Amino acid sequence: MDSLLQALQPLPMTLLFTIPLLFLLGLVFRTRRRLPYPPGPKGLPIIGNMSLMDQLTHRGLAKLAKQFGGIFHLRIGYLHMVAVSSPDVARQVLQVQDNIFSNRPATIAISYLTYDRADMAFAHYGPFWRQMRKLCVMKLFSRKRAESWESVRDEVDSTVRDVVANTGKAVNVGELVFSLTRNIIYRAAFGSLSHDGQDEFITILQEFSKLFGAFNIADFIPWLGWADPQGLNNRLEKARQSLDGFIDHIIDDHINKKKKHGVVEGDTDMVDELLAFYSEEAKVNESDDSIKLTRDNIKAIIMDVMFGGTETVASAIEWAMAELMKSPEDLKKVQEELADVVGLDRRVEESDFDKLKYLKCCLKETLRLHPPIPLLLHETAEDAEVAGYYIPAKSRVMINAWAIGRDSNSWEDAETFKPSRFLQEGVPDYKGSNFEFIPFGSGRRSCPGMQLGLYALDLCVAHLLHCFTWELPDGMKPSEMDMNDVFGLTAPRAIRLVAVPTKRVVCPL
Ligand code: HEM
Repeated sequence: MDSLLQALQPLPMTLLFTIPLLFLLGLVFRTRRRLPYPPGPKGLPIIGNMSLMDQLTHRGLAKLAKQFGGIFHLRIGYLHMVAVSSPDVARQVLQVQDNIFSNRPATIAISYLTYDRADMAFAHYGPFWRQMRKLCVMKLFSRKRAESWESVRDEVDSTVRDVVANTGKAVNVGELVFSLTRNIIYRAAFGSLSHDGQDEFITILQEFSKLFGAFNIADFIPWLGWADPQGLNNRLEKARQSLDGFIDHIIDDHINKKKKHGVVEGDTDMVDELLAFYSEEAKVNESDDSIKLTRDNIKAIIMDVMFGGTETVASAIEWAMAELMKSPEDLKKVQEELADVVGLDRRVEESDFDKLKYLKCCLKETLRLHPPIPLLLHETAEDAEVAGYYIPAKSRVMINAWAIGRDSNSWEDAETFKPSRFLQEGVPDYKGSNFEFIPFGSGRRSCPGMQLGLYALDLCVAHLLHCFTWELPDGMKPSEMDMNDVFGLTAPRAIRLVAVPTKRVVCPL
């Protein structure tokens, strides 16, 4: 009997704690459920707001924000979407509650093409992502990895030579800078051996890009996945096979080179850096701080770098050149500054950057008006409450960096290119703690390639403007320039910038 009583004794004690706890949890759950979703357009049963699919761009969402506010809600099929367009709500999501909002959404295509999120950019927030990010920041994007910075300098030099060969002719500046950034990243990733195979790789990247952006009904209504009317599954399989064929070969070459010659200090590319962590079996172990990468991890990280580092930088360079061509007074000021600080008898060097204050302002103003990644895509890890609204777990959160940069409550004359605003004291900076200006994002998922990207942007624009004078072709007036953009992963110019260069410096190029 005694033993029976003893066995029962802990039970009431447990109940004493669990019943109120369950009650409390129930209360919290009910309160949360009672919170409304953020406001938003009314949808239809099952498909929700699918008729608004074509408005899920930075411009479309900014327009809807004017109607529904800085945070609004859409439902596309089964997917909840939340658009954030005000600096205050962005702070809530990227800083105050970043533990809930730091996952990444991935479509079926993205999951498949990233080898089931074996990369960093699409990995959910957690131990794997943390280790990958640490590795990438330290080994690939660090200022200490001098080879990446060197490839920027070499490729900018080569672009200047291309322009010299075309002085007096109409140059497609857009194509020029896209091929510049592809060369930089290709070389930083795969080595300086040659550009062999680059065309094949670009074709693979383009197909990946199309598949990333393709509409797939199964992303929104999973049980319709069997239909696959556009034959996407077939294309996905083919795209991944092409990438496997291309990169496996490069990885094998690197492994053989290492076996033959060992690691040559100062001559390593990103594949070499990643191969130092290569193993057949992936492993993440936070306690012993070690990480092992499989081939899939290596391939997926290389694709992150390709996608993260090419279009973003190229689009920023092209927009900066275009805005300056459209604003001749600002262009004149920048070129006068270059002549004063550098002088026309030599080229720009990195040590000049700090003194090129007006150029810096123009680049910031470009990133404010044209953030290369206009929508930051995040996903909630659990149910959340923001600004008194309920946001369910696994919601897709789109932070509209483009709309935030043009928010008239934060910026005077928000739609106008006005670089001098950045000369004023206390004006927001893009380091990530001013939520009025977030071209690189902010917090945990912010851009790890910011330093490298800014270096390429500074160096390229400074060279193009210092070495050459630029005129619009065929007597076109600045006011006639088309400043529209197109929406994808980035928002480049809809019409490529074309301009005619003339040599400006007196030193040899
Ligand atoms: C002007 C140049 C660039 C801009 C404006 C830019 C902007 C951004 C933005 C807005 C994000 C997402 C932030 C978020 O979701 O909250 C991002 C992420 C990322 N960027 Fe950049 N980027 C630039 C250059 C680069 C370069 C040069 C690289 C690599 C070589 C790079 C690699 C990445 C990667 C891997 C991520 C994903 C990080 C993660 O999910 O943890 N970016 N970038």
